[in-house]
Amino acid sequence: MYRPSRLLVGLGLAACAQAFYLPGAAPHNYVEGEQVDLFVNALTPMLSGSDDIKLKSMINYDYYNPRLRFCEPEGGPKKQSESLGSILFGDRIFNSPYDIEMLRKNGTCEVLCVQDDVTPEDAKFINDRIREDYALNWIVDGLPAAEMKVDVRTNELFFDMGFNLGDNEGPRNELPALNNHYDIVLKYHEPTPGNYRVVGVLVWPASIGGSQDAASAACDPENATPLILDETITQSVRYTYKVIWSESDTPWATRWDNYLHIFDPRIHWFSLINSLVIVVFLCVMVSMILLRSVSRDISRYNAIDLSEDVQEDWGWKLVHGEVFRTPTNPTVLSVMVGNGAQLCAMVSVTLVFALLGFLSPSNRGSLATVMIVCWTLFGGVGGYVSARLYATMGGTDRRKNAFLTATILPTIIFAVVFLLNLFLLMAGSSGAVPFGTMLAIVVLWFGISAPLSAVGAYYGSKHGGVPNPVRVNQIPRQIPPTPKYLHPWAAALLSGILPFGAAFVEMYFVMSSLFASRAYYAFGFLALTAGVVALTTATVTILFTYFILCAEEYRWHWRAFLTGGGSAFWLLAYGLFYWMSRLSLDSFSSVVLYLGYLLLLVLLDFLVTGTIGFVASYWAVRRLYSAIRID
Ligand SMILES: *[C@@H]1O[C@H](CO)[C@@H](O)[C@H](O)[C@H]1NC(C)=O
Repeated sequence: MYRPSRLLVGLGLAACAQAFYLPGAAPHNYVEGEQVDLFVNALTPMLSGSDDIKLKSMINYDYYNPRLRFCEPEGGPKKQSESLGSILFGDRIFNSPYDIEMLRKNGTCEVLCVQDDVTPEDAKFINDRIREDYALNWIVDGLPAAEMKVDVRTNELFFDMGFNLGDNEGPRNELPALNNHYDIVLKYHEPTPGNYRVVGVLVWPASIGGSQDAASAACDPENATPLILDETITQSVRYTYKVIWSESDTPWATRWDNYLHIFDPRIHWFSLINSLVIVVFLCVMVSMILLRSVSRDISRYNAIDLSEDVQEDWGWKLVHGEVFRTPTNPTVLSVMVGNGAQLCAMVSVTLVFALLGFLSPSNRGSLATVMIVCWTLFGGVGGYVSARLYATMGGTDRRKNAFLTATILPTIIFAVVFLLNLFLLMAGSSGAVPFGTMLAIVVLWFGISAPLSAVGAYYGSKHGGVPNPVRVNQIPRQIPPTPKYLHPWAAALLSGILPFGAAFVEMYFVMSSLFASRAYYAFGFLALTAGVVALTTATVTILFTYFILCAEEYRWHWRAFLTGGGSAFWLLAYGLFYWMSRLSLDSFSSVVLYLGYLLLLVLLDFLVTGTIGFVASYWAVRRLYSAIRID
């Protein structure tokens, strides 16, 4: 596996170091008889291909969990080194006792081990996991072991990552069957004579009951009765496997294509066209409304003879002495915008990396690693934006602002993750983030991100606030009652519909990959959708800000942030809907985990879109009030 440091070096040396392949993705050439390692990853609940099956759990279990009773390698399992992102996203990779040699022992029946004393408690634990549709995740030469499935829509064959722990198809109250035999089909490609590369790993699991002693092993699932674990007696389980080498035309470079099967590309296109239509419609509408009325307003305002009575003023011009008045809680606002800017920078750079193909699936967890590294390095952006905005709004306690910008969001995230971790530990899951990883994150945060944020804040304060185009009056104006739809919460919900509407089809795939461990590699679609969401958020927020200024409501700062972040409320609603429709979580811990991660996601989305809305409105308000002539 690869290490984060290698990624960093790889990014620096990018193309030159490994002529044709991306970092961490050089092919391994095997010679005949060479050992091919099989690694085992944590067991995950599986969402199978058909539509009516729901995800039943959120918890991962270590392959070598003592209750699962899998065969261990000699000398005990050894943990493989992994990247930060891979660990955070639940990978726990160990070595295994499978003895696989390139092109040798083709099709012979091998006994892995016989577990003699599977207790009733073990049996119950295993049966419960089978009922929850748990899948085994193996890795051979960086490729996940998969089951071959047929896409019912297109009749195409594709590799579905992971394979079933057992067979749960029988009647509900009956005991499920445990798969204790694996046909491992290794597809190899021979680029030059005598050199072999692994280009596909398929596993056909089967359940072979009857006598479980090593001597009678036959590896013939055809006429075998299934192995059903009795939950009342201590019994033995024999694990067997058969390796089949099968030649393939697939070259090494395209070996991932079968795995990254996009279920229905038309859905992505539909989603994209849907969002583009929304965006074009919106942008045209907004620019027409704004351009026409604003230019009319401006020429009217400026045409008024200065000697005339001031009473002639109307609409947004009336509040010119108020728009740049310091909003309530300027510190909280600037902290939120600063953190939002840091997140925006992280998301954009990560998407660029993804589009350039750096986040290849063979670098496990590279997406999460790149996100964490970017977030850390963009601490300076957060500090700078926050400090300048704070100065612009006339804040005075710069140190407090800088301190809060650097600490408050990481503290919240850390606290939530820590609590969820406790739940995972209680549930005996392997998904709990290990202490070492927690420590690494704290070091990244305190050692790199927080100091960078402080440096950013220092420069931000040094550059000072952006001068306002119009002066602020001494005495605040009275605010007339505003229409109902401009009430802050109503505006947030209303304006959130459009960005959310532009993204919700793609959101389904993102949710499935986050929560149901489905691979997601449609980064092109994702980047376009993200762009559309940003544009929609900005335009809608500008429109609403214009409306409230016209209604002589000048407290626009907080409203702009809330209006921009409106889509987060819809995201929350969608997450709850997804829970109802696609998940059937039976354990309390799973529910807590799902809701906890959902809330974190919503919080981050709120900060990002709120910041986009606020910055766009700020830009528009400045443009607006710089254009008019004020006596
Ligand atoms: C292994 O056996 C299968 C059939 O069981 C055969 O199709 C394949 O060609 C064999 N592979 C090698 C390398 O001998």
